[in-house]
Amino acid sequence: MTRAHPLELPSGRILVPLYSDGYSFSLIAISDDGGATWSSSEPLVGAGAVQPTLVRRRDGAIVAYMRKLGTDIPVKKAAAAAQDPAALKNPYTELKSIKADAKSIYAKDCASCHGDEGKGGLGPALKGSTKSDAELYAIIANGIEANGMPGFSGSLDGQKIWKLVTLIKLGKSDD
Ligand code: HEC
Repeated sequence: MTRAHPLELPSGRILVPLYSDGYSFSLIAISDDGGATWSSSEPLVGAGAVQPTLVRRRDGAIVAYMRKLGTDIPVKKAAAAAQDPAALKNPYTELKSIKADAKSIYAKDCASCHGDEGKGGLGPALKGSTKSDAELYAIIANGIEANGMPGFSGSLDGQKIWKLVTLIKLGKSDD
């Protein structure tokens, strides 16, 4: 089945990500003639690797972000992550001392979808968010999977997530 958006390359080539829940793998359908004829990529195989979201980076590399099918996240950890966000508190009260760090995490993990300066792209603009620190933390940690925002609690620790929250809240448009 298909779910994620197609990607059109500057050459005119169209890539349509497809996946199978039943067999738990993905494929990319490729057309060079506006969809009249199609060929297929090699399968993208991984543990439960479905729903590929394609992003073309500035250097031309195409990255597929995969949703991981299954529930191998221990139930306790999932429950802890879903705790009342209002109970979470940002340890950083100013941006200056952590700005370089926050920007490098952003460039690596977020810019491909949210734009180089947080102005938006595949994901919405982040700078100037009116959401609270705790709400932003919960979104970054848990993601909004159904809409294509991956959760980062498995790859970024709490400090790094708070640095990103602080950058989003306190960063100026050129940060
Ligand atoms: C694969 C693409 C992708 C990546 C990578 C990604 N995001 Fe997102 N993000 C999205 C999409 C799409 C949405 C919109 C979800 C929705 O509309 O519900 C979103 C929504 C958000 C929101 C909610 C915005 C709002 O006000 O509604 C925040 C905050 C956010 N992302 C932060 C981040 C941060 C920080 C990173 C890096 C750690 C990141 N995202 C990485 C795609 C991505």
